[in-house]
Amino acid sequence: MEDIPSIDNHQNTSGRRKIFLRGLIEFSNRCRKNCYYCGIRAGNRRVERYDMPDDEILQAVDTAWRNRYGSIVLQSGERNSAQFTARVTRLLKKIKTYTNGETGITLACGEQSVDVYRRWFEAGAHRYLLRIETASRSLYARLHPDNATHRFDARLTALRNLKDIGYLTGTGVMIGLPFQTADDLAADLLFFQKMDVDMVGMGPYIEHSDTPLYRYRHMLLPPARRLELSLQMIADLRRLMPHINIAAATALQALHPTGREQAIRAGANVFMPNLTPAKYRAQYRLYDNKPCLDEAPLRCHHCVASRIGMTGCEIGYGEWGDRR
Ligand code: SAM
Ligand code: SF4
Ligand code: FES
Repeated sequence: MEDIPSIDNHQNTSGRRKIFLRGLIEFSNRCRKNCYYCGIRAGNRRVERYDMPDDEILQAVDTAWRNRYGSIVLQSGERNSAQFTARVTRLLKKIKTYTNGETGITLACGEQSVDVYRRWFEAGAHRYLLRIETASRSLYARLHPDNATHRFDARLTALRNLKDIGYLTGTGVMIGLPFQTADDLAADLLFFQKMDVDMVGMGPYIEHSDTPLYRYRHMLLPPARRLELSLQMIADLRRLMPHINIAAATALQALHPTGREQAIRAGANVFMPNLTPAKYRAQYRLYDNKPCLDEAPLRCHHCVASRIGMTGCEIGYGEWGDRR
């Protein structure tokens, strides 16, 4: 992979590219949806469901804060109950107070009403990640059940609402899906550009044996090709949108031990060390071979620092690292 052009807003004076850390906290695997690709879909009865209690979440936040990660990502399955949305609001306020407002908070909790998005924004979240999964309507329809909970248009509207409210908005897609064509991937890149998103998290699709999409695994590209395609997408997107944040998705590491480092070399500038306590990780298995399942958060922390060191980039400690 050739070197990418410089990313001017993310360089220090020595010219080394800066990589920003976002501590990932997978705080609940309960989900109302049934996306055909996802291991924690509601219909998968083999998953033991959990909600991390507040004190454990704050402990993970503390790890991020003490180690000077600029921000955290709170990720969960999608739930719309008033109880869940109010809990997230309370949690955001607690985290803001606990870290003296120093830790940036990204949410990834799926589609919600405008009202809920606004309340979460006012409580302290300033970025939101909602992958469109694919910009192709017809492919989207093949990956989701045909009902009111899984509508492409609803996802698009949710993304627009997030932008209107003022969130730094991120989206993304899966790469190497069954039925996906090269034209679909090109359309994904143009979608990011047209939406003028602030961040993108895209990574390879990886099969999960307890999901409906598994039956199409014979259609998948071999892992090495899927990795190559994902890195190519990152490199192309970096050329198209030089100033946005691009995450080195965890799924890349499921395809190759250095998948995420390769993504950084291709142009990604955000790394998300997993801070979810080890006891929950096996229950947040979105796809087979998810990395770091048995690792304690601090082990990932040390590992990530050396992984980034190997890329010749440096870590932007204590910085939110927002798109300029
Ligand atoms: N529930 C929220 C949502 O769907 O937006 C956030 C959590 S969801 C687990 C985060 C992302 O995981 C999804 O947007 C999807 O792209 C990704 N994902 C799920 N199953 C996957 C799979 N089998 N391979 C790769 N990525 C997957
Ligand atoms: Fe739920 Fe998100 Fe998985 Fe879909 S991708 S089943 S919304 S956790
Ligand atoms: Fe988790 Fe290396 S990133 S152990």
